Amino acid sequence: MLSDYLRYEKSLTGTKVVCAEGDCGACSVLRFHPYQSEDYFIPINSCLTPLLSLHACSLVTVDQLAESDEKLHPVQKSMLECHGSQCGFCTPGFVMSLTGLVEEKMAKNKKAISDKDAKNALTGNLCRCTGYEAIIKAATSPDLLKASPLSPRFLNQEIRQDLIKLCQEEVELETKDFALYAPLTINRACSYLEDNPQTRILGAATDLGVLYNKKKIELFHLLSLHQINELYEINLSNDTYYVGARATVTAFRHFIKKDLPELATYLDLFASPQIKNIATVVGNIANASPIGDLSVAFLVLEAKLHMNSISGTREVPLSDFYQGYKKIDLSPGELITGISFTKPSEKTLFKLIKNSNRKDLDISTFNFALRIETLNKKIIKARLALGGVAATPIRLKKSESFLESQSLTKNNFDQFLNLVQSEFNPLSDLRGSEKYRRLVIRNYFARFFKDHQELLA
Ligand SMILES: Cc1cc2nc3c(=O)[nH]c(=O)nc-3n(C[C@H](O)[C@H](O)[C@H](O)COP(=O)(O)OP(=O)(O)OC[C@H]3O[C@@H](n4cnc5c(N)ncnc54)[C@H](O)[C@@H]3O)c2cc1C
Ligand code: FES
Ligand code: FES
Repeated sequence: MLSDYLRYEKSLTGTKVVCAEGDCGACSVLRFHPYQSEDYFIPINSCLTPLLSLHACSLVTVDQLAESDEKLHPVQKSMLECHGSQCGFCTPGFVMSLTGLVEEKMAKNKKAISDKDAKNALTGNLCRCTGYEAIIKAATSPDLLKASPLSPRFLNQEIRQDLIKLCQEEVELETKDFALYAPLTINRACSYLEDNPQTRILGAATDLGVLYNKKKIELFHLLSLHQINELYEINLSNDTYYVGARATVTAFRHFIKKDLPELATYLDLFASPQIKNIATVVGNIANASPIGDLSVAFLVLEAKLHMNSISGTREVPLSDFYQGYKKIDLSPGELITGISFTKPSEKTLFKLIKNSNRKDLDISTFNFALRIETLNKKIIKARLALGGVAATPIRLKKSESFLESQSLTKNNFDQFLNLVQSEFNPLSDLRGSEKYRRLVIRNYFARFFKDHQELLA
C-alpha cells in the first residue's frame, strides 16, 4: 500500500497510519490522474491505495506541502494559529483533506469555506483530542483561499504532459509470485483475463484494500482498469444513464445531482470524501455486499450491467446478478464495463434510506429503496428493494405485485405491511437485531405511504 511505501521505503513519515481501513483519514494524501473527473488534486487514503495503481499520477504528501520551514502552507498555518492540533497524530491527515478542499474551492472560484463545507470535507478524518471546534475554525479561516494553488509546484504543464504520455503506456509487472497488468483498452483487458483466469480485477481497492490489510487476503495477480480512458465515461443519452466501470462515486454524484437529487443526497452518507473520490460505482455493485448502498438504488431503477469478454458483450439485469452471498453472475474471463439505467420520469416517487448507527462514515444496518410510478393516482409500477436483510440485496417482488395489482387502501394496508415482512429474513448482529430491522422497515413503509396519502384509494 502507498502508506507503507511512503513511510518505510521513502522515510516520508509525515503520513500517518492509524486504522488502515479508510476510517480515520490520518493517511490522507493528494492525488491527480489525468483521467479523473476533477482538474485539481483530490484527497485519497494512502492506506488503501495500491502503489501500482498510481501509474501516471502526481502525488502530494504532507511532507512537501510547506514551501520551507519558514513558509508553511496556509492550511498548516491556520491549524497552528487556531490550535487545531494537540497530540498531532491526526493533524497531517486533516491538513491534507483541508488542502484538498482549498484546491477544489480555488479551482471553482469560490470565495469562502463555510462550516458546512469544512464538516463535509472532514467527514473522513477523526481527531480524538481537539473536539473539532478549533479545527473547524482553522478550516474556515478567510485567508485559506488566498493560498497559492499546488499546481505550479506539482502539476505544471511539464508534469501534465509527462502524465499524459504515461497514460499512453500499458503497465505490465511480473515477478515470481506477483503480476499486475494495466492495459489501455477493454479488448486487451479481456484477452489478459482469458489467458490468466486467476486474475483479480482491481477497481479502486477500497473494498479489496481493506480485505488485504485486515483479512490478509492475497492479491497476487491483478488487472487494473485505471489506464482505460473509456471506462471513466458517465453520460445521459436518450434518457438512459451510463456509468463506466472506472467512474467514481464522487463523479457520479456530481453528474446526477440536479436530475436525481434523492440519489445524490443518499450518496452524501456514503463513506467519506477520500473513499468516494476513488471508489467506483461498479466496484460497489461487483463487491456484492448485502449492504452495498448503491445496489438497492440500482435494483429499483432496474439497472443493467454491461459485461465484456473475448467472446463478446452481454447485458445482465442487476436483479439477476446476485446469486447468493458474494456470488455473482460474472464468468471467468469477463469484466464489467459499466452499468446503465433509465432516468425515472419527473412524476416517479423515489425514496432511498440508509439506516446506520452513526450518520456519517458508517456501514448500513440496512438500506431501503422504493420507486413508484402512478397514472391517475393509481400505482402502475412499484419497485421495492432492501439491503442488509438477506445474503444479497433483494427485491420484494410479491409486495411489488400486490401494489401493482390492487388498489392500496386503509383496509388492506396492514396486509401489505405483513406481506413486506414475509419477504425477508434478517439476522441479528452487532448493527441491529432482527426485531429492530423488522420494526424500522415497517415504519419506513408506513411513513412513506403516510407522506403520500394520494396513493391510498
Ligand atoms: C471507510 C470505508 C467506508 C465505506 N463506506 C461505504 C458506504 O457507506 N456504502 C457502501 O456501499 N460501501 C462503502 N464502502 C465500500 C466501498 O468503498 C465501495 O463498495 C466501493 O464502491 C468499492 O469500489 P472499488 O472501486 O474500491 O472496488 P474494489 O475494492 O476495487 O473492488 C471490489 C470488488 O469488485 C470487483 N470489481 C471491481 N471492478 C470490477 C469490474 N469492472 N468488473 C468486475 N469486477 C470488478 C473486484 O474484483 C472486487 O471483488 C466503504 C469502504 C470503506 C473502506
Ligand atoms: S490509516 Fe486510517 S484511513 Fe488510512
Ligand atoms: S490532535 Fe490528537 S488525535 Fe487529533
